[in-house]
Amino acid sequence: MDRPGCCGGAQTLRQLPGPDAFRRAPLRHGPLRVPPVRIVDAPRFAWRGMMLDVARHFMPKDGVLRYLDLLAAHKLNVLHLHLTDDQGWRMPVERYPRLTEVGSWRARTRQGFGGDARWEERPHGGHYTRDDLREIVAYAAARHITVVPEIDLPGHSQAAIAAHPRLGNTDVVDTSALRPWDRWGINPNVLNVSEATVEFYENVLTEVLEIFPSEWIHVGGDECPKEQWRASPAAQRRIRELGLADEDELQSWLIRHFDRWLAERGRRLVGWDEILEGGSAPGATVMSWRGYEGGLAAARAGHDVVMCPQQHTYLDWRQSEDPDEPVPIAHARTLRDVHRFEPVPESLTDAEAARIIGVQANVWTETMDSARAVDYMVFPRLAAFAEVAWSPRPGTVERDFGDFGRRMEAAHHARLDALGVEYRPPSGPRPWQRRPGVPGRPRDGAPPAR
Ligand code: ACM
Repeated sequence: MDRPGCCGGAQTLRQLPGPDAFRRAPLRHGPLRVPPVRIVDAPRFAWRGMMLDVARHFMPKDGVLRYLDLLAAHKLNVLHLHLTDDQGWRMPVERYPRLTEVGSWRARTRQGFGGDARWEERPHGGHYTRDDLREIVAYAAARHITVVPEIDLPGHSQAAIAAHPRLGNTDVVDTSALRPWDRWGINPNVLNVSEATVEFYENVLTEVLEIFPSEWIHVGGDECPKEQWRASPAAQRRIRELGLADEDELQSWLIRHFDRWLAERGRRLVGWDEILEGGSAPGATVMSWRGYEGGLAAARAGHDVVMCPQQHTYLDWRQSEDPDEPVPIAHARTLRDVHRFEPVPESLTDAEAARIIGVQANVWTETMDSARAVDYMVFPRLAAFAEVAWSPRPGTVERDFGDFGRRMEAAHHARLDALGVEYRPPSGPRPWQRRPGVPGRPRDGAPPAR
């Protein structure tokens, strides 16, 4: 994905005259002064990505364009746009206008967790136009960033089923009563795998390919509960017809279908690590999010892998144990936890390690209802992630958190300030982040190992 080094080089040059070079307009006239330096530098990984979930909370186009500038400033080169989920569908599909007419709005939103949760009783939603998405792609390309679109299937699909009830398991649930989901978590309402549904998604992906030139197209594949397929006579008939053993194989049949379908069109499928269950699709690239295991298994089986284990790269997780931290998801994952992320475990052979084509930070937005909230959760941790994505493997040159902290203090906070990024300050949450009446709580259970 990397092109010649002029783009990264320009970003490095921009760091030399001081933070004002990160403003949108110069404060002073006259030449910028840069010290004489010789820099020899190259990225460690070809795929240096950030996933932005615009489905749980919609981020209007301007916010996405701004994030492309922020990714470029951190020498990241992939924006993975999570365009569909249970709670919202954000890409217009000309053939199926109800996907956005019905699927892009939910009536209300859950805030907080467990017994502390409450409803925010106002609609939330929105969607891009096709031209908005083309503009995003072009703006990204001008910054050497590839936009990888994700249409999540067969789970995380309630917004699509609400728009087109025939996509659901109609023999076990009354899908006509479904609306875009107003809760968070794993949703039992998944797609059926009939020929008609497969054709529907081929038509959707045809329009995705018209807009997004990316070699990789993400089809999700994560967190698909199989209860409805187990209960559905139609799904059981389909499993028998296709000569499959069980529901896991039904999911992997679907993923293999789209792997082949995309390959026939000169594209490549990428999916979350659940796509390995029930047998992997031959051409699939795997995003390892449930820790490292999926990525290790995939690399050993000859798949390309993007490492994004949640314990290091999930920027929706709370940044500290501070009780004033804004409504958190899951366990505390500090700046240091992100900075100590090593994407290539030593147990891999050199050939297997070469399969790890990249790394990605994931920004799920259940608790982030504004660009300010996204900034707070993403920064400064994205700066630590960018260093992991770019710099050599520790052992050759050790990643030194103390040194990183000094560089943040001496220069990078000021750059983020100049960029207008409301990052989490070292002193703790910003006052506007505290929401009276919506206390946050860490998720129960033991945290996964760092
Ligand atoms: C995921 O976090 N469900 C990929």
